[in-house]
Amino acid sequence: MRHLLSTRDLTRDAAVNILDVAEDMAEVSTREVKKLPALRSKTVVNLFFEDSTRTRISFEAAAKRLSADVINFSAKGSSVSKGESLKDTAQTLAAIGADAVVVRHGASGAPQTLATSGWIDAGIVNAGDGTHEHPTQALLDAFTIRRRLHGAASRGRDLDGVTVTIVGDVLHSRVARSNVWLLTTLGAQVRLVAPPTLLPVGVSSWPATVSYDLDSSLEQATDVVMMLRVQSERMHAAFFPNAREYSRWWGLDDARLAQLGEGSIVMHPGPMNRGFEISSGAADSKASTVLEQVSNGVSVRMAVLYLLLSGEREGLA
Ligand code: CP
Repeated sequence: MRHLLSTRDLTRDAAVNILDVAEDMAEVSTREVKKLPALRSKTVVNLFFEDSTRTRISFEAAAKRLSADVINFSAKGSSVSKGESLKDTAQTLAAIGADAVVVRHGASGAPQTLATSGWIDAGIVNAGDGTHEHPTQALLDAFTIRRRLHGAASRGRDLDGVTVTIVGDVLHSRVARSNVWLLTTLGAQVRLVAPPTLLPVGVSSWPATVSYDLDSSLEQATDVVMMLRVQSERMHAAFFPNAREYSRWWGLDDARLAQLGEGSIVMHPGPMNRGFEISSGAADSKASTVLEQVSNGVSVRMAVLYLLLSGEREGLA
């Protein structure tokens, strides 16, 4: 396979290899000259049908640091608003010469369709599809956890024995799905904590424990608390829990932050709803890795583009 569509497709060794290549890329990013010639003459298209800040700009930065040409396409302001289809949009970009297409789409499965339809001959990277998956987010999260726990001795290591508590709107979260598959492949134990109305049907078959009770879950030691964004845009006015109930029972407030063990880290993929699922005290605390996640995202996306386009495909199945 020459695409990155789902963390389910990654073996332990493939995932560790991507994280190790990302370590090399992170070293490049500390140099005075932050560029490598590795993808000179390659073209990366960022094809975004949904809004994004972090993912889009970090893929752009990653491609540029590898000397690729970058074309940014946003559905807003394009001929998509005139009804142009995904196929015609993709084939138009392919005609311009895309070697890799980084796609974010509101429909679960859109990247898979691009990868398997034969419409275009380019490597496809899933940058978030509907409520399905966001594999590079999970990879940058795993990279961040590994670095925080193992520092300079991270290379070659997985997350065996690490406990990760993922809290919040699991129902709508592609970040949660990609993290559950990847973190468990890497040996971590994953606990999901959410209101019963924000858990998907079939969650009991996932490789994770499930609880509705954040306070009792946090009484057990955890290395990582990963807060999810509440996707209010997908809920109606009468939804349970409402904002006040949610913050009271499932928000990471300053009191809950104070209960975490020394060394526990607090993650959030962004964008954050401050004061709702996470307090500013928690988001800006020493335990928070929110901005590290953003920085690490560039290194991880450099690694993915490099493995996809340089011919060094060992890390991608
Ligand atoms: N974490 C994440 O996907 O953020 P953006 O929506 O800003 O890309």
